[in-house]
Amino acid sequence: MNARVAVVTAAAGAGIGSAIAKRLAADGFDVVVTDAHERRAGELAAQLSDQHGRDFMSAVLDVTDPAAVAAVCDSVVAQRGGLHVLVNNAGWSKIEPVAEMDLETWRRCLDVDLNGTFYCMRYALPHMIAGGGGAVVNISSIAGWEMTTEHGAAYSAAKAGVMALTRVAAAENGRHGIRVNAVAPGLIYNEFLTKIYPPEFFSGYAEGRSYVGRVGQPEDVASLVAFLAGDESGYITGEVYGISGGVHPHA
Ligand SMILES: NC(=O)c1ccc[n+]([C@@H]2O[C@H](COP(=O)([O-])OP(=O)(O)OC[C@H]3O[C@@H](n4cnc5c(N)ncnc54)[C@H](O)[C@@H]3O)[C@@H](O)[C@H]2O)c1
Repeated sequence: MNARVAVVTAAAGAGIGSAIAKRLAADGFDVVVTDAHERRAGELAAQLSDQHGRDFMSAVLDVTDPAAVAAVCDSVVAQRGGLHVLVNNAGWSKIEPVAEMDLETWRRCLDVDLNGTFYCMRYALPHMIAGGGGAVVNISSIAGWEMTTEHGAAYSAAKAGVMALTRVAAAENGRHGIRVNAVAPGLIYNEFLTKIYPPEFFSGYAEGRSYVGRVGQPEDVASLVAFLAGDESGYITGEVYGISGGVHPHA
């Protein structure tokens, strides 16, 4: 049987997306590495191909371009024989107070985080329906649940929107054998964040706030996404899973 095909957006960065692509590849999925950065997407697909001894596809994809999203979904099905898993990882934020926010900040954030997630679902779901089922995992954030000034209003609103989109899409598509879930990470370490936050920010999380005494790693989120993408989570849909080492518990 052919491997199930998993499209991951924003999969070529230094953070969660590439960890998800690597984990799903290790779990046997036929991962399609998509990213706005074409060269890095190609490099990760080549790395996975070398590592696993099978061919992985890459595609340049800016999730804010609905025509490009539709074309990539069609091309994945034409080239790989189906589209079974979609992981909406692309996200963007800029922190500006509401009273001073540049309108472009609001638009860009909603466009990448919420509209991009919608576009990918809009054009991937018909293929999943035609193929008899699938799983969608959306990467939201604890900022969709909680007040966090360190994220900003545009990001919080967009990520809350992703949760709402997840709920309704799950209700609509269960009868097609498609499950739709989201994950809501707290702080997850990534090289880029070390340029924004000082070292004390990370040690404060690890030693002061996390129940498990460490900062989250992209691989922690990748494990949860792999579970939600796979058959072991067959009775789970319409949920949002927090993953924050206890910093933002929701029990
Ligand atoms: N890192 C955290 O602490 C954290 C916490 C909660 C939620 N999240 C969410 O997790 C996701 C991944 O975040 P990350 O920080 O690990 O980054 P990441 O490394 O997974 O993603 C960065 C990549 O996104 C790509 N990208 C940017 N804009 C794009 C677009 N419009 N279309 C396609 N690709 C685009 C970039 O080229 C880059 O390769 C985001 O949705 C983010 O909001 C992150």
